[in-house]
Amino acid sequence: MMQDWFLDAKLGIFIHWGIYAVDGTTESWAFFNGDVDYDTYMNQRHGFTAAKYDPESWANLFRRAGARYAVLTTKHHDGIALWDTQANDLSVVKQTPAGRDLIAPYAESIRNAGLKLGFYFSHLDWSHPDYASIASDDPNASRFAHCMPPSDLAKWERFLAFHRAQLHELCTQFGDVDLLWFDGDWERDAQTWRMKELRNQLEEWQPNAVLNSRLVGYGDYATPEQGLPINPPDGPWEFCMTINDNWGWRPSDTNYKSGRMLLRLFAETIGLGGNLLLDITPMADGVIPEIQIGLLERLGAWIHRNAAAIYGTRRGIPHGHFHGPTTLSKDGRTLFLFCLDGIREQTCVRGLRTEVNRASLVSTGQEVHTYRNGGAGWSEVPGVLWIDVPVEGQDPDITVIRLDLAEPIDLYEGAGRT
Ligand code: GLC
Repeated sequence: MMQDWFLDAKLGIFIHWGIYAVDGTTESWAFFNGDVDYDTYMNQRHGFTAAKYDPESWANLFRRAGARYAVLTTKHHDGIALWDTQANDLSVVKQTPAGRDLIAPYAESIRNAGLKLGFYFSHLDWSHPDYASIASDDPNASRFAHCMPPSDLAKWERFLAFHRAQLHELCTQFGDVDLLWFDGDWERDAQTWRMKELRNQLEEWQPNAVLNSRLVGYGDYATPEQGLPINPPDGPWEFCMTINDNWGWRPSDTNYKSGRMLLRLFAETIGLGGNLLLDITPMADGVIPEIQIGLLERLGAWIHRNAAAIYGTRRGIPHGHFHGPTTLSKDGRTLFLFCLDGIREQTCVRGLRTEVNRASLVSTGQEVHTYRNGGAGWSEVPGVLWIDVPVEGQDPDITVIRLDLAEPIDLYEGAGRT
């Protein structure tokens, strides 16, 4: 069920952690796509130690980053659970030197840090024999061929029982879960998954949990991935994005986004009314790479300076009124302008009919001068609102201007007139 905390949160941290971090292969897809064979992929489990796993330091880092929630891969498509599942033998507890449940300490640390707790879970399971069986009857076909009609219904029923059993464990053994982040629904339709039934079960087990969209139509919000929307999806949404080019730890991937790029993408996301779920990739011992820590801290420093323009706000005004992202307070009486590329003396807002009571810079509180220019008494097109911002007051990253309005915002959207 959608919750206000989710709409207010703006930033979440996504954590892809699994045996793929050992050799730095692509998470699960490495064997699906044939980059490595299945056994080579699975052999990575012998190197998954979690020896320096310190979820408390993870949670503290996420707070410093300005995040309000975290989502950890409890099980990716490779089928290896990070908790002590009783539904099969494929867990880090039974199969890796880590030898213990990694989910309970994560849940506890996230909660203790005052963050909302999210679990990622892959519906599809490319290791489960009963899952693969419905993909194809042809013994020569790839074990991982997909999108084939179900052929052996008894197997599929067994798989669904397993799938429900694992979700029941996740939903009943770790206290309240705030967000269930599903993935891997695309190989079957809603009916085959019995998603309606699953949704009812989830609501019974975790009545307050927010459910992402990947329930073939039965979720609470949309999850555009890797490419920021131009026009946002209808309703609540969250943009998930990697910090470099991969979801999991791959030392060969050094194509990190810069701090500035992250800030910009974050501002654009919240301006369109979404949350950013930014992915990081711990190594096999549980350590988060330094470069990622640095990027999160950089993002967080700016977020903390500009918190008033971020948390609890809603989608800003449509394109065209201001050249940059904007957010609005829930009551529509405060407009925040994100000046992405610095300001040369002044910036402006067009089509703003509402009077401005006060204008200031969010990170310093410094008041700035505004004035109207243009418009005409006989025209409903309001004059341009100019805002003077001296160079000295500007944020080294993105300066955010706060406009306190006399009334809830009213915009002119027309074509002008003669
Ligand atoms: C895709 C990929 C998966 C990744 C996910 C994150 O669905 O299959 O590897 O975990 O995106 O959104």
